[in-house]
Amino acid sequence: MENIVKNQKKFIDKVKKLNENIKKYYNILTMGCQLNENDSEKLAGMLEEMGYESTEDLNLASVYILNTCCVRENAEEKLFGKLGELKKLKYQNNGIIAVCGCMMQEKHIQDKLKNSYPYVDIIFGTHTLQNFPEDLYNSIIGKKKVKDILDIDGEIYEGLPIKRNSNKTASVTIMYGCNNFCSYCIVPYVRGRERSRKPEDILKEINNLAKEGYKEVTLLGQNVNSYKGREDYGFAELLRDVQKIEGIEIIKFVSPHPKDFTDDVIAAIKDCNKVSRLLHLPLQSGSTEVLKKMNRKYTKEQYLKLVDKIKAQIPDVLFSTDIIVGFPEETEQDFEDTLDVVRKVNFEQIFMFIYSRRVGTVADKMKNQIPEDIKHERFDRLKNLFEEQVVLNNEKYIGTTQKILVEGVSKNNSKMLTGRTDSNKVVVFEGSQNLIGNVINLKIISEHKWYLKGEKKFP
Ligand code: 5AD
Ligand code: SF4
Repeated sequence: MENIVKNQKKFIDKVKKLNENIKKYYNILTMGCQLNENDSEKLAGMLEEMGYESTEDLNLASVYILNTCCVRENAEEKLFGKLGELKKLKYQNNGIIAVCGCMMQEKHIQDKLKNSYPYVDIIFGTHTLQNFPEDLYNSIIGKKKVKDILDIDGEIYEGLPIKRNSNKTASVTIMYGCNNFCSYCIVPYVRGRERSRKPEDILKEINNLAKEGYKEVTLLGQNVNSYKGREDYGFAELLRDVQKIEGIEIIKFVSPHPKDFTDDVIAAIKDCNKVSRLLHLPLQSGSTEVLKKMNRKYTKEQYLKLVDKIKAQIPDVLFSTDIIVGFPEETEQDFEDTLDVVRKVNFEQIFMFIYSRRVGTVADKMKNQIPEDIKHERFDRLKNLFEEQVVLNNEKYIGTTQKILVEGVSKNNSKMLTGRTDSNKVVVFEGSQNLIGNVINLKIISEHKWYLKGEKKFP
């Protein structure tokens, strides 16, 4: 493995040489989840070492990367729209277009790119990210198309460069792939089986982040609580070890699976005061019947029991969730069950999705697909219920003291700063800019639906 990384460093140097004395720029568009964002940070790291600089100005760039997602259909529309836009720029700037990420692992997308978008220079998948310097070099030198896609699971490569998007909060991938095969989801087909990074590699990375001044880390994986670093070392052990790292003040993780939320994980969260009290617990549906068809491996009652168990152990816990509406065969009663769970749990945040058919998944082959108008009507009802709950939920913050990671100046009012509570609520408050990047205490004085207003306690 080390040899492969070393070999790529040679290509980094070769491209760097080509760029000597010329200022060159890259632009990366990332679609999808935080795992893709983290992959883009790695691509940015490689590009910076090759002598490129990041730019938002597409006219200036000569390397364009589109890092794709295929979890829902709208990402496909976005990719093909963007490629149309880049065509002219590519010829104008003698640039290189690289398309990568989850969508590239799908055969029908590979074919579509080949047949309809011949001006794409490099295509690489989720298992070959580490080869990017070599692929780029070959494309520049050989002026030929490069296709670098592996259908077997990729290895884990340590020691690749990385350029992070933020200098306050960092994402750390702890595991790759997914074994769950939820019937609606394409991820297991494009990201392969679960592979966990070694605990020592993860802890080394987080230790370095702490030394660089990062205060917050988010542990990433498709199914973080099935992390297995060693036979006797799982997600609970990892949380306890990250808790010990001096300098790190907030630990988050996405996404756990309710079926793997074991007692040792709950105990670790309870014992580790740095672990955020906002837990993301994807529900997907509140109907036992639908959950069975989704292959989620829990019932409505088991989900609610788990929530109660966690609340009993960790009284200040709050929940966020993912919900899909309009799964095939979802009846009105099934949907009512989802609303029932939403009323009972009082989620702090809900990521709502309209079911999107994905080629190759089990649910795509189900006969009784739900008509678009019903899907949208259910989506709106869920959204309305959630909005009613937000205001009620917000009231509990008023008068309380909250730990806030200060993120920056408010976009709407340059005199105000913004930050987020541990539960991910946006808080706006007056304060001096040297607070940015720090974790401070604020008293919450009012609620405004999508944000709270705070006041500094100790001026
Ligand atoms: N349609 C709609 N939403 C989906 N998700 C995954 N696959 C689909 C699909 N085919 C949602 C799930 C998952 C989140 C990341 O995306 O809610 O938790
Ligand atoms: Fe998809 Fe289910 Fe795996 Fe999440 S756990 S990535 S929803 S298959």
